[in-house]
Amino acid sequence: MSSFLVCYGTGEGQTARIADRIVDALGERGHDATAVDAADRPADLDVEDFDAVLVGSSIHAGKHQSEVAAFVEANREALAERPTAFFQVSMSSATEEGATQAAEYVESFLGDTGWHPDRIAQFGGALRFSEFGFLKRLLVRQVMKREMPDLDTSEDVEFTDWQAVDDFANDVAAFVEGRLGHTVPDAGVSEAGDRSE
Ligand SMILES: Cc1cc2nc3c(=O)[nH]c(=O)nc-3n(C[C@H](O)[C@H](O)[C@H](O)COP(=O)(O)O)c2cc1C
Repeated sequence: MSSFLVCYGTGEGQTARIADRIVDALGERGHDATAVDAADRPADLDVEDFDAVLVGSSIHAGKHQSEVAAFVEANREALAERPTAFFQVSMSSATEEGATQAAEYVESFLGDTGWHPDRIAQFGGALRFSEFGFLKRLLVRQVMKREMPDLDTSEDVEFTDWQAVDDFANDVAAFVEGRLGHTVPDAGVSEAGDRSE
């Protein structure tokens, strides 16, 4: 079993939902995973206490959550010393046309923070118009009319591919298990990697 920190930044909660889903998937694999909101992280949170770290951020107005960038910059050394992964949540990842833009967001985040995660994923986000205030609803509807003219903006929409989230969590877990050689209880593999009967 390995310990995982999933540190995320969210505006309206979708990245938090994805972080929780990753925690569940890692837990199902026998790992000990904890999700922490970067904007609300305890003062005594220490990356050194975890075997591996996943960092997630949504995009708002072309930018990642500032607290997530601050977390990565403050912990650059500790992140470089352990397996890490980054996941990004945006509307750009909801369409094929947005893929280049989404990749540019990732590139600029990694360039700005100087971080080199071992695994990277990009997920489509959600627009919960019913939870937006008046002005935000108006603004986002206008933007979406331009970006996705066929989208019905009278209802909340979700573009997150939950299977892709599960696959990412399992891929990161497999990578960490391989790198650290920690036991996965159900796999019947001992700490040293020998098969037990
Ligand atoms: C005010 C606002 C601005 C946004 N700006 C962008 C943007 O510039 N590019 C993009 O790809 N997605 C953008 N999105 C889509 C969000 O990334 C998406 O809704 C995501 O699910 C938000 O995740 P969160 O709830 O964790 O913040 C925006 C959403 C909102 C509400």
